Amino acid sequence: MALVTTTEMFRKAYDGGYAIGAFNVNNMEIVQGITEAAGELKSPVILQVSKGARAYANHTYLVKLVEAAIIENPEIPIALHLDHGDTFELCKSCIDGGFTSVMIDASSKSFEDNIALTKQVVEYAHAHGVVVEAELGTLEGVEDEVVVEAGKASYTRPEEVEEFVTRTGCDSLAIAIGTSHGAYKFRPEQCTRNAEGILVPPPLRFDVLEEVSRRLPGFPIVLHGSSSVPQEFVKMVNTYGGNMPDAIGIPENELRHAAELSVCKINIDSDIRLAMTGNIRKYFAEHPDHFDPRQYLKPARQAVKDMVAHKIQNVLGSAGKA
Ligand code: G3H
Ligand code: 13P
Ligand code: ZN
Repeated sequence: MALVTTTEMFRKAYDGGYAIGAFNVNNMEIVQGITEAAGELKSPVILQVSKGARAYANHTYLVKLVEAAIIENPEIPIALHLDHGDTFELCKSCIDGGFTSVMIDASSKSFEDNIALTKQVVEYAHAHGVVVEAELGTLEGVEDEVVVEAGKASYTRPEEVEEFVTRTGCDSLAIAIGTSHGAYKFRPEQCTRNAEGILVPPPLRFDVLEEVSRRLPGFPIVLHGSSSVPQEFVKMVNTYGGNMPDAIGIPENELRHAAELSVCKINIDSDIRLAMTGNIRKYFAEHPDHFDPRQYLKPARQAVKDMVAHKIQNVLGSAGKA
């Protein structure tokens, strides 16, 4: 199967009450871990590349790694997506360079400027057979080089979504309902603690999601900042020399519920980072004499694969939907 856009994936996901995982890729082991899991579970998958990933690994290397994954996993649909494109030029470069989907994230601009830039990207993308994700509302945390300070984030305003989608022609919409980027999604003072002392976050704003969906029936919604920050990985990092106190993510049951509603794309990056870092730290601690990168990247890649398989089966619901 060649690279696909997300159009068909989202239509089926919307109707079927599941979501497609959009996982950030930065190197070979990450591409392999994700696509081996998706391939074995017959799940569609989105591989997404940030501006930072492109700067790190180079556009051509990333596209060629994804092409290799398609050859190795011919039975599943794979989309290649630009994550958090911030300019027309960056989106154009990815459209011209083989991506099947781009995000233009003008969410930090005014409503009118967001519409103008999104519309410009949509016109170019659609003329080249590429689909566009846009964003309304701002998430807390770090998005590439944009840092949204605590308290400066704002939930999506449902009363704006119809006008935004109609005027821009975008194909999917990322909204802010309380998720955020990174491994520290909530400050301890926003949370309660359970019996084991683990932070329990406040719930997502499902009322906002439901109102957006009521106004945009059948339209695919995207959730960024949707890592769950599994405590087993946080514990592994902290046990083997790391220092990530109070790292906390979005509970899996909330993401599952969102996937049953209108959320068709769920973005996960931090969980990949945690799976790799925890396992590499453990490997180094247990094998202080080893120095072959293949030795410590192998369990890291396996951890990514196991984590993605778990998401596909227990959170996204996309197993067997290829
Ligand atoms: O939303 C941000 C993603 O986690 C990508 O992060 O810009 O550090 O590659 P990055
Ligand atoms: P996380 O930091 O929660 O993994 O979010 C990733 C993301 O939204 C990428 O765009
Ligand atoms: Zn994001």
